[in-house]
Amino acid sequence: MSEKIRIAVVDDLIETRENVRKLLQFEQDIEVVGQAGTGIEAIALAQEQKPDVILMDINMPDMDGIEASQRITDAAPRTQIIIMSVQSDADYLRRAMLAGAKDFLTKPFGGDQLVAAIHRVYDRRPTYRAAPAQAYGGQRAAASGEETAVHGKVVVAFSPKGGSGCSTVAINTAIALADDDYKTILVDASLQFGDVAVMLNMKPLTSLVDLSIDEDDLDDDLISSVVQAHVSGLDVLMAPPRPEMADEVTTEQIITLINYLTTIYEYIIIDTSSSIDDTTLSIMDAANAILLIAQPNLPSLKNASRFINLTESLNYEERKIWLVLNGVTDSKGFSVKKITNILKRSVIMTIPDDRTLVSAAANRGKPLVMGATQKQPVSRSLQKLAKRIAQQLGGKQDGDAKNKVDDKPKTTGMLGRLFSR
Ligand SMILES: Nc1ncnc2c1ncn2[C@@H]1O[C@H](COP(=O)(O)OP(=O)(O)OP(=O)(O)O)[C@@H](O)[C@H]1O
Ligand SMILES: [Mg+2]
Repeated sequence: MSEKIRIAVVDDLIETRENVRKLLQFEQDIEVVGQAGTGIEAIALAQEQKPDVILMDINMPDMDGIEASQRITDAAPRTQIIIMSVQSDADYLRRAMLAGAKDFLTKPFGGDQLVAAIHRVYDRRPTYRAAPAQAYGGQRAAASGEETAVHGKVVVAFSPKGGSGCSTVAINTAIALADDDYKTILVDASLQFGDVAVMLNMKPLTSLVDLSIDEDDLDDDLISSVVQAHVSGLDVLMAPPRPEMADEVTTEQIITLINYLTTIYEYIIIDTSSSIDDTTLSIMDAANAILLIAQPNLPSLKNASRFINLTESLNYEERKIWLVLNGVTDSKGFSVKKITNILKRSVIMTIPDDRTLVSAAANRGKPLVMGATQKQPVSRSLQKLAKRIAQQLGGKQDGDAKNKVDDKPKTTGMLGRLFSR
């Protein structure tokens, strides 16, 4: 039997909550799992119960429904919100939608309207495919157990200057996404000197080399046997264990693999090395977003500027490049405003400098966004970056050709492509 749609009702009036509950009590596939009378209670309820759908009043005493919706969208991104209000003017609607609400019911409403709205938002929720037998990592198999198509989003972390924090950003955003229950895989495509295994305190028993095979030979079982599960729930594909083995993974194979992973995972986060070669460039072609990691110092900004010029030569859309500033201090280096002027790109996230914490996390193999360090400013900014990824790249997965990974990898070579322009 399929699972019931789990609903929570948020309204300061107990009568309204009871009315809604009564309207739904005979629905076979809907279950009211909780009620809250204030915005604060609603956030706690969303975090604890993770309902599929929240019916949210707007006018409440402590925190209005729009702010509560915004906070719930951040805290429980899988929960779909339907706003219930006597006001139905355009401004209200717009604000509610911006806060993450997916539908709107004007009070008073009948049972049919209510049930139709619940089904509508539930059917449009982001879905992912149930993992095959021996789920990847086990913990994150789809709740419904149903097979639904996935078109996962590919996010590449890249820094044109080594040692800028590229792996730190890739690892921690990937874990934060997994922690928010997105089915996520981290791929260490820094093929020669990948650091992911060490930074996650995992043994590189298997690696990308084990999947460097023809497209026809790739299947779910093989991938699940090569992918390793991290304690956070993140799945990881390690870099080859020895630098000379990097050549065993061809550009075609890695692009085919990424393409395949988009049918299994919601987010594919890829760590790269700081050199640009055909493989890195083909991965970037395939990506939905490139996190360009730079530090607020001249050598790093000079390289970031050169990289931005390169992406313009390659006709990448501006919005595909997400500039992330790492190692930001109040006192040292260029200000964010100055950097925006120099690079003519806005900074989408700043990550503070905290050498003690960041290097201790890497050395112990304990990622910043987990455990005792997860509330530190540096961890908070990495969690915010993950939420930003989910907000901007998430939403309805419709197989839109624009968002799909190129299944025909470019084989003309980077220089060929640049000079052929
Ligand atoms: N926000 C930060 N504050 C302080 N130190 C940081 C920060 N981010 C990264 N570091 C430090 O910078 C160094 C490089 O980090 P990391 O390995 O993540 O960078 P990378 O760009 O992947 O490097 P590589 O080019 O070797 O792959 C590490 O010692 C790390 O501890
Ligand atoms: Mg690295």
